[in-house]
Amino acid sequence: MNRRSTTKRELNRRDFLRLSGLGALGVLAGNALSMPTVAKAWGRPLSGLAEPDVEINLRAVISQEQILPGAATTVWRFEADLLKGPSQTVQPLSNTYLGPILHFQPGQTVRINFTNQLNEETIVHWHGLHVPEAADGHPRLVIGPNETYVYDFQIMDRPGTYWYHPHPHGRTGPQAYHGLAGLIIISDGTEAQQGLPTGAYDLPFVIQDRTFDDQNQLVYSANMAGFLGDDILVNGQPNAAFSVERTTYRLRVLNGSNSRIYKLAWPDATPLTVIATDGGLLDAPVQRDYVVLGPGERVELLVDFGQWPAGSLQTLRSLAFSGAGGGGNAALPNGAEFDVARFQIGEAATATPTPTAIPTATPTPSPTPTLTPTATPPTLTNPAYMPLVFNWSAASANQRTTAAIRSDLRAEQAQPQQATRTFNLYIQFGQWTINGRTFQMEAVAPDETVELGAVEIWEFSNNASGGGGGGGGGGMGGGLPHPMHIHGLQFRVVSRQAPTDATQRANWETVKDGYVDSGWKDTVLVMPGERVQVQVEFKDYTGLYLYHCHNLEHEDMGMMRNYRVVQPSRD
Ligand code: C2O
Ligand code: CU
Ligand code: CU
Repeated sequence: MNRRSTTKRELNRRDFLRLSGLGALGVLAGNALSMPTVAKAWGRPLSGLAEPDVEINLRAVISQEQILPGAATTVWRFEADLLKGPSQTVQPLSNTYLGPILHFQPGQTVRINFTNQLNEETIVHWHGLHVPEAADGHPRLVIGPNETYVYDFQIMDRPGTYWYHPHPHGRTGPQAYHGLAGLIIISDGTEAQQGLPTGAYDLPFVIQDRTFDDQNQLVYSANMAGFLGDDILVNGQPNAAFSVERTTYRLRVLNGSNSRIYKLAWPDATPLTVIATDGGLLDAPVQRDYVVLGPGERVELLVDFGQWPAGSLQTLRSLAFSGAGGGGNAALPNGAEFDVARFQIGEAATATPTPTAIPTATPTPSPTPTLTPTATPPTLTNPAYMPLVFNWSAASANQRTTAAIRSDLRAEQAQPQQATRTFNLYIQFGQWTINGRTFQMEAVAPDETVELGAVEIWEFSNNASGGGGGGGGGGMGGGLPHPMHIHGLQFRVVSRQAPTDATQRANWETVKDGYVDSGWKDTVLVMPGERVQVQVEFKDYTGLYLYHCHNLEHEDMGMMRNYRVVQPSRD
């Protein structure tokens, strides 16, 4: 496609918004289902989504929140008003800086009028959602204070847990850190039929780390390792405690931290039952003694609190691990052991709904127009691709039997495939790079150009010595973990290759049993020395998208690149 004209049109839109300084209601934007068009204004008919199913006014504001005893904390946060759509679409949360949970349904058309009420540029990205490039929150689309950006898109993703956060280049870390983040939950309304906990038994669980000064204000500083806070917060609260009934809950866990990796476990060694990853439900639940979650990743757990004595207190911990470099002189190093949250178990057992059906992934609504793939998907030998038949009722987490839950097959046991592209992650000239490159706002290298409809295998190699010679992770203790994220799609993990270096291998052994690779993902943790292959498919939309390390300091320092989806060149 003509990349120049696309770019130009985007800039026109931004300039248009900036120059006109329009309020949220004054601006309407492009057609979500085709190439982006220039914004239209003042109630003129839209070419595409004239009547979205859902319309939301979203704002990034500076506000005060009572987080600690004593002085309130100045935070930046998202606020939203629902203009149109089901009343539960915008779910504000109390006692937190987190933005409201946005609840969407597959197939809905959504318009979000985002107004920047900060004192600096920003733009919002819908992490994990498959949206047109104009709706993806690329940093070239930032808007200034008091400007509005209109997003039009259709919900084309599976039911699951996604999130939204700012994406201005160089400032994503500090903006997210000051509070700009919120969950997106896509639900098709079949959760109860599938035997999944709903309502009060469906808990958001956003883990972040923060440092407060003695005036209760947030302290932020970036370094090459990333930012690590001293205090662990869940849903915006330090020392988080939940009162739970003796029944099964669904915990939607997001690692919303800038750089910290969590290794979640129960101290009594009760296994964790994982039912979903970044892109929705697994084909079958899996069990883990611990779950490792890098920044940006989600995992959903089914927890049966009825298995513990009434009145007891259970603490979810993050266990010690190595290979994350520690984080310089952080008070709470990456890899330290700490409490994440406490659960006060109620006295009485509560009836749990009996599962009645086998959960299956909901088919993704098919966009219009549907484009025919031009590439044949590679034949995969990864056993994780084999459909697993799962009997939900037999394996209900409400029963204590772990035998009923099949052990999944691990990506590290799969044969690596022929990679379509390899991305080496390393430091060069004192900067984090991908294949020796740092972020350039609009640049796309030839090996970052992909064809619409193609199915490819991307390999992320965190093997400094394999990083094209001169790079090297030297000075960082043999490299750092990189949670690699690709915009605009969900992928499958094809294989993982263990580090060959003995020290890196030993470090890797402290986390590898916590990977959950059997589901849809948009972010994958790549430990030092590790090589991870993912299968990606470029569907529906051409345009400019990002891939980057979701350690937000690495991202801000340039460990991010564009990829461009182009129309396939025939003949
Ligand atoms: Cu959650 Cu490009 O990011
Ligand atoms: Cu993203
Ligand atoms: Cu990184």
